[in-house]
Parts: sequence; structure tokens; C-alpha cells
Amino acid sequence: MNILVTGGVGYIGSHTCISLLESGHSVIIADNLYNSKRETVEKIKYLTNDNVDFYEIDVTDTQAVDDIFKNNIIDGVIHFAGFKAVGESVKLPLNYYYNNVVSTMVLADACLKYNVNRFVFSSSATVYGNNTVPFSETMDPLPTTNPYGETKSMSERILTDIARANPAFSVSLLRYFNPVGAHESGLIGESPNGIPNNLMPYVTQVAKRKLEKLRIFGNDYPTVDGTGVRDYIHIMDLAEGHVVALNNLTEGVHIYNLGTGKGTSVLELVKAFEVANDITIPYEIVDRRPGDIASCYADVSKAKQELGWIAKRDLIAMCKDAWRFEIKINKN
Ligand code: WQD
Repeated sequence: MNILVTGGVGYIGSHTCISLLESGHSVIIADNLYNSKRETVEKIKYLTNDNVDFYEIDVTDTQAVDDIFKNNIIDGVIHFAGFKAVGESVKLPLNYYYNNVVSTMVLADACLKYNVNRFVFSSSATVYGNNTVPFSETMDPLPTTNPYGETKSMSERILTDIARANPAFSVSLLRYFNPVGAHESGLIGESPNGIPNNLMPYVTQVAKRKLEKLRIFGNDYPTVDGTGVRDYIHIMDLAEGHVVALNNLTEGVHIYNLGTGKGTSVLELVKAFEVANDITIPYEIVDRRPGDIASCYADVSKAKQELGWIAKRDLIAMCKDAWRFEIKINKN
């Protein structure tokens, strides 16, 4: 199938493009390069020895999106493009609502106009709010602590209502947990601009001695060792999960958690990174980060049962692959 991947130059999008191409699909990328680098397009082509059509556009631009649909046969859309920094969304809510929600509506409108009936949406475990872990797809989304999370909930609701009104329009809502790591080549990976917000890229920069030490946000949570627990999933497992969801998409709306089902604390991840890469990560316990929850991990039984998909790569592989990218490529 010919798949339009919005945000396909970004961290999750670029890895998913590789999995799509390796599975025999062809790929069109639409990305405004707001939080990614054009060279990644060439790396996708190099790593797959395949071609990719790339359009540098903003997916809130109705005319630009229409031109792509008008000039290409598109069999499905995977929509990654969007702002994703939780803290930033609190400061710039309108930017987040406009960019993340309008882009979803522009794309869905184009799909209906051009009769494209497969839509895979990049959602997030954030929509579970403070439900009890493990988070299951049967749980109702709860208000999140930030506009970023609300844009994901709203987009899910918009796509669900469109599918209800247009039975042929099939939707897969993929709720990610904490994607980490990099393609095993070390050529592509997570390369945040500036000081990383997320744990793993911060750890890799401490490992590279670019940052002095890791600040662990609180060790008084009700968890195994007091530090925050998350469900870290290897980016290539996440990418492969998208391909399986796309290939198995049937009519209606389907929701899947893409995680490992295993909770890992901050201290456990630091320890795993040190063992995997034989590097010491200096850290200091500081105050909790506002908005953080104690534990977040997935019930992964539905994706296994319905898609036959489970995450295969373990924490050591995540740490090794993240580090290889950091030392090989990441010049941030
Ligand atoms: C993980 C754990 C922190 C940094 C966010 C978004 C979520 C998703 C993934 C988009 C927490 C602790 C972190 C640091 C630390 N993004 N930590 N020191 O917050 O679980 O999820 O990214 O979909 O929507 O909310 O990820 O990596 O920021 O934090 O102690 O310097 O590491 O407190 O327990 P998070 P994270």
C-alpha cells in the first residue's frame, strides 16, 4: 500500500517509515521539519535501499494537503505530525490545540474527499489520565494534566465520530507509552533540540558528559524504589506495531496500547543503562516534576490477542541502541 506518513521525518515517524518500507509498503512523507532534520529522509532511503517521496509542508495547510492527495494514490494515512512537549503545551495551549487538532481534521477531511479509508493515529497513554495501572483500552480516557494530552483525546474523539458517520472510514488509535532507543544502525534516533525533557535522551547526554548529572524528579512516589515508573518500549517495536495495526485495519475504530506491559522505575532504567553500556550515570534526587504521575504502564493483552503483536526488545537493547545513536550521530 502507498502510505502517507505525516511527521515521517520525526523520531517515531522515521522509524515507522523504515518498518513500512521493509514490509513492502511505499511511503510518502509530509513534514514541516519543525522538530526534525531533512537529512533523516536520506537516511531512511539509505537504510531501506528504497525511495521515499517527501513534501515539506505543514499539515494544517489545507491546500498543501489537498495537493498531495490530488497528485498521489494514497491507500492509508499514519498521522504523527504534532507538537509533543507536555510542559510546553501548558505554556502555549493555543499552539498545541491548533496544530495538533486542526491537522487531524484537515487530514481526515482529505481522506473523506479522496476516499482514503485507512487512518492510523499517533495517540498517547497520556489520555488515561490518573486511571489505575495497568492502563487498558476498555478504560474511559480521563482529563489529562496538560493541553498536549487533551489534543490527543480530542483527536481520538473527532476520528471516532467521523468513523461513526462514515462506516467505510477505518481508524486505529495507537496509544504509546514511553518510546526510547534507536534503529540498530545508530543512524537515526531521538534527537531533541536543546536540553532533553525526556529521561532517556537526558541519560545519554549525561553518559556523553554533555550534561553533568541526571536530576531524578522525586523518590517518594508509592513505587518499587520511590522513583517514577513507566512502560519503556523500543522505538523499533513501536514502529513495527504501526505496520501490524495498518495491515490488520478493518472497518470501525480500534484502540491499541503499544507498550511492553512492564513498569520500570527511573533508578532501574539508570542501572540498566550503566550495565548495558558500562558507563556510570551520576544523579541527584530533586523535587518531583509538576504533572508527573507515579506509575504508567500498559495492559498489552489486546494488541497481542487481536494483532498478534508484542514488544520483543528488552531494556538492555533499548539502552544499547540509544547509546549507539548518541555516540555515533547525535551532535545536539
Ligand atoms: C519518565 C520518567 C520522570 C526526565 C512523556 C509525555 C508522554 C510521552 C512520553 C508523548 C518520569 C523521570 C524524566 C528527567 C527524571 N510523550 N525523569 N528526570 O513524562 O513519562 O512521558 O514522554 O507522547 O506523553 O508525558 O516521560 O521521559 O519525561 O519521564 O527523573 O530529567 O523519568 O519524572 O518518572 P513521561 P519522561
